[in-house]
Amino acid sequence: MNHREEMFIGKTADISQEVCDGDRITSSSRRSFLGLLLGAGAAGVGALLSVPLFRFLLHPLLTATSSSSWKEVGSVEDLASVTSPVKKLVKIEQRDGWRKIVSEKALYVCKDATGRLCAFSSVCPHLGCSIAWHDEKSNFLCPCHNGQFTPDGKLLGGPPPRGMDQLEIKIEDGLLMVHYQNFRQLVRHKEVIA
Ligand code: FES
Repeated sequence: MNHREEMFIGKTADISQEVCDGDRITSSSRRSFLGLLLGAGAAGVGALLSVPLFRFLLHPLLTATSSSSWKEVGSVEDLASVTSPVKKLVKIEQRDGWRKIVSEKALYVCKDATGRLCAFSSVCPHLGCSIAWHDEKSNFLCPCHNGQFTPDGKLLGGPPPRGMDQLEIKIEDGLLMVHYQNFRQLVRHKEVIA
C-alpha cells in the first residue's frame, strides 16, 4: 500500500469516526430532551397532587383565630333575684392554627337601670387585667391601674379608655345565654377582635 492509499484510508476512518460521534451527540441530546420532558411532566403532576395536601395543611393557619360563642350562664329564674353583679365562668374553645385551646373566662351578670339582666366581660379595656366587683364600694375595680366602673359598667375613673365591655345576651328555654367575645384594648370604642 502506497503512501496515498494510506492517507485515503486514514481520512475515510476519520470521517466515519466523526459520523459516529455525530450520531452519539444526536442520540444523547434526544435522551436529555426526553428526560427534561419527563421531569417537567412529573413535576407538573406532583404540583397538581400537592395542592389539596397544602390546602389541607395550611387551612388552620389561614383560618382566623376564633373564640366567640354563645354560652349558658344560668337559669333566668335564679338570676332574677340578683341585687349586685354576680361573677360567672364560661368555658371558651379557641382555635389557634392547629391548636384547640379551652380556657375559662369570667364575666359578670348584672341588672341594668330598668332591672333587666345584662352581662359584662371582666377583661379590663385598658390592658386586660381582671376587673373585680367590690361589694363594700359598690363598684367594679381593676387592681392593675385602679380603673373604676359603676355597677352597670360605666367608666368612673382611672386610665381605661372606655367602660366595661357589655356582652350580648339571649334567653333560651329559661336559660340566660351570653355571647362571649374579646375586645380590643386601649381604644375608646368597643371593637370585637375574636
Ligand atoms: S389594666 Fe385595668 S386599669 Fe389598667
